[in-house]
Amino acid sequence: MRTPIIAGNWKMHKTTLEAKALAAGIVEKVKEAKEAQIVLCPPFTALGAVAEAIKGSNVELGAQNCHYEDKGAFTGEIAISFLSDAGCKYVIIGHSERRQYFNEDDALINKKMKKVLSSGLIPIFCIGETLLERQKKQTFDVLKRQVLHGLQEISLSDPLKLVVAYEPVWAIGTGVTATKEQAQEAHRYIRDLLAGLWGSQTAEQVRIQYGGSVKPDNIAELMAQDDIDGALVGGASLEIDSFARIIKF
Ligand code: 13P
Repeated sequence: MRTPIIAGNWKMHKTTLEAKALAAGIVEKVKEAKEAQIVLCPPFTALGAVAEAIKGSNVELGAQNCHYEDKGAFTGEIAISFLSDAGCKYVIIGHSERRQYFNEDDALINKKMKKVLSSGLIPIFCIGETLLERQKKQTFDVLKRQVLHGLQEISLSDPLKLVVAYEPVWAIGTGVTATKEQAQEAHRYIRDLLAGLWGSQTAEQVRIQYGGSVKPDNIAELMAQDDIDGALVGGASLEIDSFARIIKF
């Protein structure tokens, strides 16, 4: 039985003060929630404020990106140890916006994945096809490439140390959600790929989140699918009420 995990990816939103208020509001609303593990991924500058606001609660902290080196002359980058230091337990890796706007490719993502896994932080490893790729019926090929290259040479000793997020690019921020059938089909395919890497016993325990226009009114049907184990939520995680309703799916 997999414990669902629901994460809010705040992207480039929220000042420190705004982040503090949002996190505190969420903590208050979901303190009785037992349905899922809850993670907030604010921008780097708000990690400290959010860490403070969630202290002692059932809400955990994550970051949106990291560098693969321990330290050094990498202006503008953030080391994994800084994230642990700020209280993070999770870090999003390979989000489609980083692939699309910051030229992150499978090889770079693989370097980050190896480093994060060896650090003890839990990566939320993002994959997903574009609209054009889906229209050309390349969805499975793209997912296969992203999984096999992104997770190359990684042996997963503990299935709980990895979270995968299937985020079809065409569903992100568009209001168009994948149908429950489309999402389930992709999740099952991803789990089969993981089974090919690490065996089915491990693959059956890895949580696979769905992301892309998740809202309070579509979360329940997504979560009812066999291979959907949570959500990575963008826009709807920026408001207390909508995120709390998603958590209580
Ligand atoms: P939206 O929920 O705004 O579509 O964003 C999804 C996403 O990219 C989460 O990482």
